[in-house]
Amino acid sequence: MRYTTTLLPLSLAALAAADPIHIPLTRRSVRRDGIERFAAAADHVRAKYGYPTVSSNLRRRAKTAGIDIINQDADSSYIGTVTIGTPSQSFPVVLDTGSSDLWLATTSCTSCPDQTPEFNPSSSSTLVQNNTSGQNSEIEIQYGSGAVKGTLASDTVSMAGFTVDSQTLLLVSDVTSGLLGGNVSGILGLAFEALASTQATPFWEALVNDKQMSSPEISFWLTRFIDDADATPEEPGGVFTLGGTNSTLYTGSIEFQSLVDSSSPTFWMLDVSSVTVQGKSVSIPTGSSAQAAIDTGTTLIGGPSEAVKNVYAAIPGSQALSGQYNGFYAFPCSTTVNVSMAFGGSSWPISPEDMNLGPMQEGSNYCVGGIFDLDLGSDVSSGNGNPSWVVGDTFLKNVYSVFRASPAAVGFAQLSEAAGGSSGTPSGSVGSATLTGTNVPTSSTSSTSSTPSASGTSTTTASSTSSHSSASRVANTGAVSLGIILSIAASTLSGWFVLA
Ligand SMILES: *[C@@H]1O[C@H](CO)[C@@H](O)[C@H](O)[C@H]1NC(C)=O
Ligand SMILES: *[C@@H]1O[C@H](CO)[C@@H](O)[C@H](O)[C@H]1NC(C)=O
Ligand SMILES: *[C@@H]1O[C@H](CO)[C@@H](O)[C@H](O)[C@H]1NC(C)=O
Ligand SMILES: *[C@@H]1O[C@H](CO)[C@@H](O)[C@H](O)[C@H]1NC(C)=O
Ligand SMILES: *[C@@H]1O[C@H](CO)[C@@H](O)[C@H](O)[C@H]1NC(C)=O
Repeated sequence: MRYTTTLLPLSLAALAAADPIHIPLTRRSVRRDGIERFAAAADHVRAKYGYPTVSSNLRRRAKTAGIDIINQDADSSYIGTVTIGTPSQSFPVVLDTGSSDLWLATTSCTSCPDQTPEFNPSSSSTLVQNNTSGQNSEIEIQYGSGAVKGTLASDTVSMAGFTVDSQTLLLVSDVTSGLLGGNVSGILGLAFEALASTQATPFWEALVNDKQMSSPEISFWLTRFIDDADATPEEPGGVFTLGGTNSTLYTGSIEFQSLVDSSSPTFWMLDVSSVTVQGKSVSIPTGSSAQAAIDTGTTLIGGPSEAVKNVYAAIPGSQALSGQYNGFYAFPCSTTVNVSMAFGGSSWPISPEDMNLGPMQEGSNYCVGGIFDLDLGSDVSSGNGNPSWVVGDTFLKNVYSVFRASPAAVGFAQLSEAAGGSSGTPSGSVGSATLTGTNVPTSSTSSTSSTPSASGTSTTTASSTSSHSSASRVANTGAVSLGIILSIAASTLSGWFVLA
């Protein structure tokens, strides 16, 4: 609008002048140059009042797109590719619904492993460093497997045909050992902005805000290789879909559950409403101690002490481990462990293969379970927005999972035959030990596929009086990823599984 208002005083001035001829010509040429600005101004007004903009409509061509992902180290991590900069450079990143920052190892990282693909900021013409001269501009992000340090920048980031022109990311110059391994350059955080250490809008949320997605959803099919003794460090990982779902990968309907904190979400958090072990419901805490982050970036399932104790009490012959395995439990390798979890609706079975991480050491008849004690019986007060459970890939491999921004919810559906079927494995292979690095087959051979049962009969029992939250452990670091909590339970095992 302000372009037209400037015309008036100038025209009046022209009329008042002795020589009016030249001025209308000048105005006309300005107006011709300014046509595009009218369109841009109209789009600004549309955006201001919440109407769809022409520019976002043009971008909406991408709609929904799937990318093939990589399964790293027998289900430890699931990796996708992002492209950054101009000209674009491609990097493998962990797809992590349990954190909200994007970071990449850069060529200035001396502590990064030799094989880490590194981003070279100086070769991107579109990269903008936030603070080139600043001394105090380093930001640190904590994860379960370690921490990263770097400086903020913004650049063009693309994935599966979606593009954010000015995406804030952390250019990492320092990582703690063990955090990066194999062909991974960083982490793409897929939780909400409120959780971001960089305080930046996460890539996926920027796409939602820009209305580039045909629906505000991201979805996963994650493959299983934990039971494949011949698995290589990189196997097909499934499909990550941005902007919707892929109907060839699931059957039936998607059962959505609203997020616990749907008005101001941080993690993708649901309440665990029931846990069934060997066909029987076990007692689990309620209230804030039932809150679970649904986290693709964490390999296993962590839960409150009491719930985890009750899970293993229902498995004959199981025992709590100590020392370096403190927080973990083992059971006779010959036992087929059937665990199902519900989040207010259906009870979703977890494949026995996923519950069995393999023998404690070569030749042992005791196998380590996939659910571990997250808080190690600590007595810190609950609340503060920290989850009491972390439901990672041990569970998520068994379902098609959908993370929906609005209304904020997580949905699960049964995997289609094309996606291997829910809780089934593509081939009848035996379990393998990946904890010790030596692959010892276990006796776990079942690959059953069962349908989720509606849990109308909910026998969830409120057993909890003590609160098991890890709030105080993370309180002093602000909005950090879950991993910091998990490292306490699992630091010695983090070489195998990832706690992003
Ligand atoms: C859906 O997944 C199948 C199986 O991976 C794939 O072939 C197909 O291209 C995907 N569709 C879309 C729209 O991404
Ligand atoms: C970093 O720079 C980008 C692009 O200029 C900007 O959007 C972002 O808000 C900045 N972040 C900080 C923390 O200054
Ligand atoms: C930029 O550098 C200045 C000077 O060291 C520092 O005070 C400021 O916090 C930095 N800003 C950011 C966003 O890192
Ligand atoms: C890394 O990628 C290269 C090339 O794709 C591949 O040959 C190599 O096996 C990968 N390394 C690991 C540890 O997965
Ligand atoms: C585990 O579930 C399968 C399939 O539902 C069943 O055949 C088996 O008996 C169960 N095992 C135990 C120990 O409950």
